[in-house]
Amino acid sequence: MNILILQGSPRANGNTAWMAAEYKKAAEAAGHAVTVVDVARKKIAGCLACEWCHGKGNGACIQKDDMQELYPLFAEAEALVLAAPVYYFTMSAQIQAPVQRLYCINKPPRLRKMALLLSSYSPGVYDGAAGEYRGICGYWQAEDTGIVTARIDEQKTDATRAKLAALVAKL
Ligand SMILES: Cc1cc2nc3c(=O)[nH]c(=O)nc-3n(C[C@H](O)[C@H](O)[C@H](O)COP(=O)(O)O)c2cc1C
Repeated sequence: MNILILQGSPRANGNTAWMAAEYKKAAEAAGHAVTVVDVARKKIAGCLACEWCHGKGNGACIQKDDMQELYPLFAEAEALVLAAPVYYFTMSAQIQAPVQRLYCINKPPRLRKMALLLSSYSPGVYDGAAGEYRGICGYWQAEDTGIVTARIDEQKTDATRAKLAALVAKL
């Protein structure tokens, strides 16, 4: 399966990046092809709601920023993994922007499965992000393979690594 992971923390050696890397390792070991994009290192603006894409643009976005690198990856993705730190009870803005810029294509055409990896300081702060993620799974008719969360004392642990491997097994 062709898997695209969006890693949405600006901290290159942080917990979200670790979760994305561990998921990738397990998925590659299972024979999947995996691309990780550090979206926090990209310049991706929010959707302008200009509707150019649904008219003259014929499915293309009028904004020419780093999102242009991602559109071909979304075109091929069969599984999408959102890996985000929790910022103010939801996913980081760096994850929200590329997801909302898919408005021009409505949904990734080959997408069949999704997963969510969340990192936070506190426990019990995941409802906002999980609700948004489940809404997107439903909207795109992609199977929700599950959510792995890691609060401060669960980060970079064998237990979390095992949960990530279990998630990969659901692909
Ligand atoms: C702007 C900002 C907002 C945050 N909001 C929350 C929050 O609402 N709840 C929480 O538990 N942690 C919050 N955190 C802490 C991060 O979610 C936590 O440190 C996470 O592990 C960071 O992931 P990273 O190591 O991948 O960067 C926030 C951090 C930042 C920088």
